[in-house]
Amino acid sequence: MNSQVKKERVAIGTIRQLEEKGKLIARLEDGLEVAVFKKSDHSLAAVENYCPHKGGPLALGKLRGETVVCPWHGFRFDISSGTCADTQSILKARTFSVLVSEETVYIER
Ligand code: FES
Repeated sequence: MNSQVKKERVAIGTIRQLEEKGKLIARLEDGLEVAVFKKSDHSLAAVENYCPHKGGPLALGKLRGETVVCPWHGFRFDISSGTCADTQSILKARTFSVLVSEETVYIER
C-alpha cells in the first residue's frame, strides 16, 4: 500500500506580481489565505495568513530576514518552519512548500 499522500499544487500568482508587491497574498477557493514572501536569500516561503496566537493577518506583517512579525501582538514566526521565536515554539504557523514553474508561483498542500 502506498502511504504517500499526494499533495495538491495551487497557483498563487506570478513572479512578476511578487516582485512588484514584495509578496503574494491569495485566498483559495476553500477560504484558505496564503502569503508568499521572498527571503533574503531570494528563495520563497509561504505561510497561512492566520497567526496561531489570535488569528492576526501574518500576510500584513513586516518581514525581517527570515521572520514575519505579526501586526497584532508582535510575535515573530519563521516563514520557512512556522516556529515562533517568542513562545518557545508553543505556537506554530502553518507553512507550505513553494515552487515556481514558468513564472507562476505555486504552493503545495
Ligand atoms: S494575533 Fe499574532 S501575535 Fe497575537
